Amino acid sequence: MPAVDLAGLGLDEGGHLLLARALAGLSPGERLTVTGRHPALRLHLGAWCRAHGHQLASGDDLTVVRGDAGDRRWAGAVRAGAAAGVPEPRADQGWGLAARGALVEAGGPPLGAHWSQREHVWADIAPQLYAAAAASQWDPATAVDWPAPAASGPVDGVPDEVERAVVQLMTYLVENEQAALIIPARLLSQLHPHYREVMQLLASQAADEARHVEVFTRRALLSGGPLGTSSAGGRASLQTLLDEPDFTTASFLLSVLGEGTFLDLLRFIADHAPDQVTADVTRLAGRDEARHVAFGVSHTAHLAAADKSYLGTLRQAVERRHSALQDTAGLNAEVFDSLVLLAAGSWSPEAISRGWRAVRDLQSRMDEGRRRRLAYIGFPDDEAAELSALHTRNFM
Ligand SMILES: [Fe+2]
Ligand SMILES: [Fe+2]
Repeated sequence: MPAVDLAGLGLDEGGHLLLARALAGLSPGERLTVTGRHPALRLHLGAWCRAHGHQLASGDDLTVVRGDAGDRRWAGAVRAGAAAGVPEPRADQGWGLAARGALVEAGGPPLGAHWSQREHVWADIAPQLYAAAAASQWDPATAVDWPAPAASGPVDGVPDEVERAVVQLMTYLVENEQAALIIPARLLSQLHPHYREVMQLLASQAADEARHVEVFTRRALLSGGPLGTSSAGGRASLQTLLDEPDFTTASFLLSVLGEGTFLDLLRFIADHAPDQVTADVTRLAGRDEARHVAFGVSHTAHLAAADKSYLGTLRQAVERRHSALQDTAGLNAEVFDSLVLLAAGSWSPEAISRGWRAVRDLQSRMDEGRRRRLAYIGFPDDEAAELSALHTRNFM
């Protein structure tokens, strides 16, 4: 008869591991002889057997008859998809928070995640983008060469009025970054964790935006002055993003169109920055944004390739947003003027004229970028041009 010797080990000291291991090799009904010196072994063994669905046979020897409760416990268990490779097309709510590929005991609480279909959230590039995001995290304290705190006051070499333009732009950027943080965080909270790489990517995206909020705020406060203005039209534009319930449409409006447009904006501010800190914070943020845009474009293209009619849904979303914002000013006029002054560098009419042309060029680069991304997703060139023109004047 199979036997296990627990020596002096009590069942409350790890002896149950030896016992369970010995029983695991037996079929229901088979008997196992247990020996050991622990004074309470018989008492503990009786209780353990009752709790685990086995039987302690009567007699002087300690003999356990294996029950089948353990087998019954896992009878309805399912695998939460395959651990490796592309995740399943549909994630079961019953898998709950189980790791992808885990054996899931039946009967746990269902998850209630809103996004549980691969097509609605996935992009094949998500795992690589997450790896790139994890490798590219930067520390706001050390990645930027901040002046010593005691140096609060005029920023070296930056004329007062240009400084005010920088502060206005930073104030505007913070507002936009806050929207860009809330949206992936909200999508993340409704995403089935089976799509682990997308969950990780959205978490790193939210962390990126948190850093952008920090560095733009710090740059705005560098000269110690008050912050700039926040326009009702700008906030109305961002609110339409926050109100978009669909995963792909939100990702499309935010990342493809908004953050895509911001790539050019951040590059423009970096190129015309009157000081190193402004150049650094916008370049660092721009690098992160490129990943956010890459995910938005890949995911939207992935879904549009699987379902051609989805382009119509995206088109309607742009048109709906355009009409919702029709009666608002869109971009804060002070933001536009600040961009002109930043590129001009001074108030001479020649400089302002140069700044004005630079901002017009910026707007055409933004338009070209949007058209290129829309075409990549699958829109014909004429529709891409039309939709790009309907994009919010607020850029994001
Ligand atoms: Fe950002
Ligand atoms: Fe972003």
